[in-house]
Amino acid sequence: MNLKKLAADRAVEWIEDGMTVGLGTGSTAYWAIHRIAERVKEGLNIRAAASSIRSEQLARELGIPFVSLDDIDRIDLTIDGADEADDRLNLIKGGGGALLREKILAAASDRFIVIVDESKRVRTLGAFPLPVEIVPFGSRLTLNRLTALGGNPVVRTSDDGSRYVTDNGNWIADCRFGSIEDPERLQALLNEIPGVVDNGLFVGMASAVVIGKSDGSVEIMEP
Ligand code: 5RP
Repeated sequence: MNLKKLAADRAVEWIEDGMTVGLGTGSTAYWAIHRIAERVKEGLNIRAAASSIRSEQLARELGIPFVSLDDIDRIDLTIDGADEADDRLNLIKGGGGALLREKILAAASDRFIVIVDESKRVRTLGAFPLPVEIVPFGSRLTLNRLTALGGNPVVRTSDDGSRYVTDNGNWIADCRFGSIEDPERLQALLNEIPGVVDNGLFVGMASAVVIGKSDGSVEIMEP
């Protein structure tokens, strides 16, 4: 059973005619984009904005109408995946490298719906390395600061071994802080570091986490 598709299909049911919809990035968001495209073909009237170049390309190929973020002030509903979600609906995101654009969309959204399979649900965040987007300039100094904070940063590489570069021209430092007991404090400390653009902690942003489960059911966690 495809648990990612299960969660995605359920979340797409919340989309209504006339909405501006934010599209996430990753293998779970992929299914949401496909389901949205099906509904558009059936007559759903929406406009979309995407959190990555690849999600925008996919959505355009599938015929989803687009709006520029420069032409809107808010988004009705964004659907996106996550790498980890705890019981307080705090998240680690950015495994796909799109955390900055994802956070911009989430922050502009009236509702931010997170879709995951059950493996992503955790008691405490931190088993998944926390992605931190950093500017290339002075990266050694920024990495030193992340190390001092206990993050053991590793600069992400692509499958071909080259440096991974985000859609924003930045790098990702994957950090291992261990168990993150206080995500709010950690995100504040990270964002104080010059050279850090943003980090993959999404604290208090999710309106709901939709979980696809192996028994075929869907669980919805809300604040
Ligand atoms: C991309 C993300 C993704 O939502 C996250 O990595 C989950 O990906 P997937 O749905 O492929 O497991 O944050 O930056």
